[in-house]
Amino acid sequence: MWLTWEDLKVNPEATVETHSGIGLALSERFIQRGIFVIAVGRRKENLDAFVQAHGPEKASAIQFDISKMDAIPGFVQDVIKSHPDLDCVFLNSGMQRGANFNKPETLDISLLVEEMTTNYLSYLSLAKEFLPFLMEKKTQTALICTSSALSMVPLLRCPNYCASKAALHHWLLVLREQLKETNVKVIEIFPPAVQTELHDAKHQPDIVDGGKIGIPLEDFTNEALDGLLKGLDQIPVGLAKGWLDSFEQERQEAFARMTEAIRAGAGSK
Ligand SMILES: NC(=O)c1ccc[n+]([C@@H]2O[C@H](COP(=O)([O-])OP(=O)(O)OC[C@H]3O[C@@H](n4cnc5c(N)ncnc54)[C@H](OP(=O)(O)O)[C@@H]3O)[C@@H](O)[C@H]2O)c1
Repeated sequence: MWLTWEDLKVNPEATVETHSGIGLALSERFIQRGIFVIAVGRRKENLDAFVQAHGPEKASAIQFDISKMDAIPGFVQDVIKSHPDLDCVFLNSGMQRGANFNKPETLDISLLVEEMTTNYLSYLSLAKEFLPFLMEKKTQTALICTSSALSMVPLLRCPNYCASKAALHHWLLVLREQLKETNVKVIEIFPPAVQTELHDAKHQPDIVDGGKIGIPLEDFTNEALDGLLKGLDQIPVGLAKGWLDSFEQERQEAFARMTEAIRAGAGSK
């Protein structure tokens, strides 16, 4: 899901990839705040319903599958050309599948590749293509990504999903540091389990009543929006808060020390 950053404070134009779950819920809040939202996703019926519900003066939509890596550069150029006021990209798409390596015969490697591509590799490519456009702007811009509490602690049933979110989290830590002298703010949202389609039986038949797992979507949306409005660059919700505030601090302090040492070393040469 994607949107724009300044929109949260003023009201230019936003791009949100969404049409169900967390993406849809946050998009609706952005629209309530006067933000123009460009929704992106695969299901045309959801995109059409979204634009119809809000009207073309508040929302537009582009059908696109972000796992089609070869098509990403062309897609980004189309978005930039049709929405030159865009100043924030919000990447939120994700999928989750179980994987039991104790039963290797049940594993579908193509599904694991799709999961890693959707949750992580596509984000790298989208960032590469959008960053020059965002960095050229004279105002502050933002790249917002949805990771997960599971980026910090893995869950037994979905190791590849957790690995994709851990990869995203590590990359975002470095990206924020690399871009710290630029006008691009890097924001990470860490949802706990939230009641959406993510755990739905149509995707994960081994889970019973998947749609009921986690906190209500509205509670999540309230907290995530609150973090965005406060200007936080890491927004943990629910369970993720305790983890981010405890052991994850040590990891990030170690990263800061290592970064400082490397920069000091580079400076002394
Ligand atoms: N719900 C949770 O418990 C939870 C917890 C932690 C993190 N998260 C993360 O939150 C994000 C949103 O998930 P959700 O809970 O809102 O689940 P969801 O209801 O299943 O929504 C997933 C969204 O991603 C889009 N999407 C998936 N694959 C895509 C692709 N290849 N190209 C374009 N769009 C794609 C879907 O739209 P289309 O199907 O129409 O393309 C849908 O709008 C994900 O990154 C997820 O990992 C969720």
